[in-house]
Amino acid sequence: MTDQTLNVLAIGGSLRKGSYNAAVLRALPDLAPVDMKITLGPPLAMPLYNADVQDSAGFPPEAQRLADAVRAAQGVIIVSPEYNFSVPGFLKNALDWVSRIPNQPFNGKPIALQSASGGPVGGARVQYHLRQIMVFLDALVFTRPEVFIGMASQKIDEAGNIHDETTKKFIRDQLAGFAGFVRRHG
Ligand code: FNR
Repeated sequence: MTDQTLNVLAIGGSLRKGSYNAAVLRALPDLAPVDMKITLGPPLAMPLYNADVQDSAGFPPEAQRLADAVRAAQGVIIVSPEYNFSVPGFLKNALDWVSRIPNQPFNGKPIALQSASGGPVGGARVQYHLRQIMVFLDALVFTRPEVFIGMASQKIDEAGNIHDETTKKFIRDQLAGFAGFVRRHG
């Protein structure tokens, strides 16, 4: 690692033990270009957002931790499943909490998106909903190449290893492109 190394945070949208998206998340550090260090983010599970709780008790520590991690990173990668063509509730909930923290940390932050799904479309729709959320937060979402991992059970084994070389190449290519994007905009 040098002074030029990019410091990137990766966060996930599935709580499931055997999650395909968590498997992709864990694989990212090894698939990153040499000039990018990917750190896996803190757990995103937190109480349901309630403005009354925020006003009376403040932000949950998990939201503060996530905000601090996003703020400290030069870029953020979100790897999420698609639930009912959209964003899993607990990921949306975490983003909602963090979005209310003063000087919310996604403002101006380069973001890359990835998704894995059991179906053929690979979570395309969750990514477009995440893009929409990131517009409100004034984040800078990387456009291409995109990473949609469809039919994930054929590409990721039961131990959580990606055994499909094409999938690994898509991820490597995106991370290399994202490194350039972060350098230009981070
Ligand atoms: C799903 N799944 C799913 N898949 C998809 O491609 N599009 C969808 O809209 C949905 N919707 C959906 C809703 C809910 C509530 C669940 C639990 C599942 C299937 C989903 O892709 C599959 O369960 C993945 O394995 C979930 O990702 P993880 O947990 O393996 O990372």
